[in-house]
Amino acid sequence: MKFFIDSANLDEIRSAAEMGIVCGVTTNPSLIAKEGRDYVQTLKEICEIVDGPISGEVSPFSTTAEEMVKEGREIAAMHPNMVVKIPMTAEGLKAIRVLNSKGIKTNCTLIFSANQALLAARAGASYVSPFLGRLDDISQPGIDLIQTISQIFTNYPEIHCEIIAASVRNPIHITDCALAGADIATVPYKALVQCLRHPLTEEGLRKFENDYAAVFGRPNA
Ligand code: G3P
Repeated sequence: MKFFIDSANLDEIRSAAEMGIVCGVTTNPSLIAKEGRDYVQTLKEICEIVDGPISGEVSPFSTTAEEMVKEGREIAAMHPNMVVKIPMTAEGLKAIRVLNSKGIKTNCTLIFSANQALLAARAGASYVSPFLGRLDDISQPGIDLIQTISQIFTNYPEIHCEIIAASVRNPIHITDCALAGADIATVPYKALVQCLRHPLTEEGLRKFENDYAAVFGRPNA
């Protein structure tokens, strides 16, 4: 399973990229609005930091296929790595079909059922984004959805759509997504950092320091 970072915060994206752990970025209108910066400029700057797929979503006020296709073409024109994020609606599926026919990659978002994922893949989406955490929030195990979509896509090898597990909130989600067969997990910076830490790693570092210092002293002491 690959990692994308789910963020529009340039410092977070830069930090994750420097660690070499992410090969793509996903954004959405909420994440970009949270940063309080220009929508297009933010996406362009993200493209300068990570050399991989960057999902930029159409405006929530683009509701017809025509509007989504027009905006999607503008998003795709920003940078060769841009992927157009389109919501799972009937008009969204129409837009995905048209954008795919023009060679533009799409990521179908707000997926909450396996059938939605299958429809998006058949319409030509390059990625589907099932929202794990938001299903957990309403007491439906989100990981079951990732597993089911993975099984369905495996059953039909002609489907090349990748599964981006989204709405990932914690390290357990990440391990579960990898076990369930997600191609990618898009993870908030905080959860990435939670994954790299372990109390025994911290304790081991302190022991190395203390053992070393007891014999060789501390640098600049
Ligand atoms: O990419 C979609 C994801 O950001 C949604 O996450 O935590 O708002 O459900 P969350």
